[in-house]
Amino acid sequence: MKTTEGWNLYEKAKKLIPGGTQLLSKRPELFAPGLWPPYAVDAKGCTIRDLDGNSFIDMTTMGIGTCLLGYADPAVNETVINAVRRGSMSSLNFPEEVELAELLLELNPWAQMTRFARTGGEALAVAVRIARACSGRVGIAFCGYHGWHDWYLAANLMSTGTLEKHLLPGLEPKGVPPQLAGTVFPFHYNNISELDEIISSQGKTLGVIILEPLRYNEPKDDFLLEVKKKAETAGAVLVFDEVTSGWRHTLGGAHRLFGVTPDIAVYAKALGNGYPCAAIVGREEIMKTAQSTFISSTYWTERVGFAAGCTVLKEFKRRNVPQLLRNAGEAVQAVWRKCAGESGIPITI
Ligand SMILES: Cc1ncc(COP(=O)(O)O)c(C=O)c1O
Repeated sequence: MKTTEGWNLYEKAKKLIPGGTQLLSKRPELFAPGLWPPYAVDAKGCTIRDLDGNSFIDMTTMGIGTCLLGYADPAVNETVINAVRRGSMSSLNFPEEVELAELLLELNPWAQMTRFARTGGEALAVAVRIARACSGRVGIAFCGYHGWHDWYLAANLMSTGTLEKHLLPGLEPKGVPPQLAGTVFPFHYNNISELDEIISSQGKTLGVIILEPLRYNEPKDDFLLEVKKKAETAGAVLVFDEVTSGWRHTLGGAHRLFGVTPDIAVYAKALGNGYPCAAIVGREEIMKTAQSTFISSTYWTERVGFAAGCTVLKEFKRRNVPQLLRNAGEAVQAVWRKCAGESGIPITI
């Protein structure tokens, strides 16, 4: 198998684009330098054809977790093409924005209001701004990865080891104002005593607690419920980052598996199945504070994201995507276990 054309283009890209690509997780040298196909020319269902004409079944991340319905899904594409034909931008708003808000709120009966953005990190920055505005406090306790923005990278200002054992350790905070040091504090999943320490050391300066309700491990000892109780006592806004977990386990988020609701839930990635769409869904008294600060952007009003999101949610439900994913996941795990057993390699899934 040759990937020469792909690598020639990537070498050129690295001279024109710092890092060669906009997303750390798409750098081909992270997988196999000189071999991993850097560019796709077609992506359909779960098949990708690369620049050198090779065809692959995608067993990695389906577009970094975006395409749970498969690439170029016909139903989503039809909606999007229709939106493009009718005009995807105008001086007025598009009604699909309200429809998507209603669909999301139906799935989250604890919430009453929604704002929209395009990417996960951006939507989390919006959530953090709203939560800080609402609590009137700066301090953030967090667990896991939540995007590239200053509020998050500030965690690494004190020491680049702060994000150790979170999704992306060692991120460089150069360019983040050093004045933000001491505003954001990490705790680890299932480690409630670390959160306790942050709450007692930060007292009334802690305004936000943010975490993924589920990533690789199940919550132990009612971890999510305990976090919620601590947030309530501390007077902090609880944000669940459902950017990656959002639509895999249940429709509406991993938190629904455990019956623990946040003050704000954030969705992105699979919500648009490849078309940029992100949502910040929350309780009315908290979301209302979005009006007491400035949160506004031109392309957050563009039609394609909303139109895609509406169809994606209907298709998730119609095709029972969480069950499909569970079946596929269990089938793959069974193969791994069998192979591991046969070859005597101990594995943990
Ligand atoms: C849990 C979580 N939050 C936030 C983000 C950032 O989302 P985006 O890359 O769309 O900015 C990611 C991306 O991997 C994520 O997994």
